[in-house]
Amino acid sequence: MRSDANIAGPMTDPVPGPRTESMGEDVSRETPPPMDDTPIGRAAQLAVEALGRAGEGLPRPEQTRIMVVANQKGGVGKTTTTVNLAASLALHGARVLVVDLDPQGNASTALGIDHHAEVPSIYDVLVDSRPLSEVVQPVPDVEGLFCAPATIDLAGAEIELVSLVARESRLQRAIQAYEQPLDYILIDCPPSLGLLTVNALVAGAEVLIPIQCEYYALEGLGQLLRNVDLVRGHLNPNLHVSTILLTMYDGRTRLASQVADEVRSHFGDEVLRTSIPRSVRISEAPSYGQTVLTYDPGSSGALSYFEAAREIALKGVGVSYDAPHAHIGAQGDQSMVEGIQ
Ligand SMILES: Nc1ncnc2c1ncn2[C@@H]1O[C@H](COP(=O)(O)OP(=O)(O)OP(=O)(O)O)[C@@H](O)[C@H]1O
Ligand SMILES: [Mg+2]
Repeated sequence: MRSDANIAGPMTDPVPGPRTESMGEDVSRETPPPMDDTPIGRAAQLAVEALGRAGEGLPRPEQTRIMVVANQKGGVGKTTTTVNLAASLALHGARVLVVDLDPQGNASTALGIDHHAEVPSIYDVLVDSRPLSEVVQPVPDVEGLFCAPATIDLAGAEIELVSLVARESRLQRAIQAYEQPLDYILIDCPPSLGLLTVNALVAGAEVLIPIQCEYYALEGLGQLLRNVDLVRGHLNPNLHVSTILLTMYDGRTRLASQVADEVRSHFGDEVLRTSIPRSVRISEAPSYGQTVLTYDPGSSGALSYFEAAREIALKGVGVSYDAPHAHIGAQGDQSMVEGIQ
């Protein structure tokens, strides 16, 4: 059985009651349980561990790592993953740029970045060859984190790009011409495989696929993987799927662990050992223009993204990752997810 490090584990375990020891006929004393026997205690312990690690910082990559966060399925956690991983990496001391490549502009909103129609945006970069440096804005509250916002104009870019020269490599050129030192660029893709996503796949070297732990989790992934192969073959020989992240994991359901097992058996080492729990705090944060890392730093959602970021950073420099604790995922007795198609 595979071991599955999951930070959600302790938050969803059954709550053990306090131990009661009888000390004599009418003397009963409640012994407080050790810190890590309660969900809150364990969360606090993890928070302390994570914060300790934040102080230490993480190894920085030798070259800028460009990660394309893609899955043409909607609502699987692409944007949530992009902004929270980016904030985690920046809090670990890295310099990080988020490129919002989705006309919905959700990543820009979640990072508290102004993106009304007049704001210089990634649309101007792609369609009018405006330098990236003219549209990048610093993210309030998180040092070292920057965002190239998307405005609603980007909705027309899929069509406008068709007739432009080098239509697939316009983002790549803009990034190559950007002179600010960066450790990571995370590109948030729309839920489609059109020219915007192709621009991201040409610009990046690594593909990060968030997979939601629910029924039909793998449906449609085959098409994304074939597109990655096509772009690798014709436009970007460095491109590869480097990271799979399980999102919205609900440790109380058997389905979630069955999906996790299925995904791990398909993708193996690419799947991060940390998975992201379903968390109200994660879904609330964007409406405050914040990532969960600043909105509720001690929450399970914040800690899990923090750990995922640590795992990604260590993997990037070939250092093995020591999970805060191991959680053995329940093995499903029958397949509950559709295979890759
Ligand atoms: N771990 C989580 N726990 C709870 N809610 C989550 C979690 N991750 C994402 N969500 C919520 O699920 C919804 C979809 O997430 P998100 O916008 O990140 O997906 P997406 O793949 O970017 O969607 P789209 O394809 O529309 O761009 C959002 O409302 C988000 O707040
Ligand atoms: Mg999105």
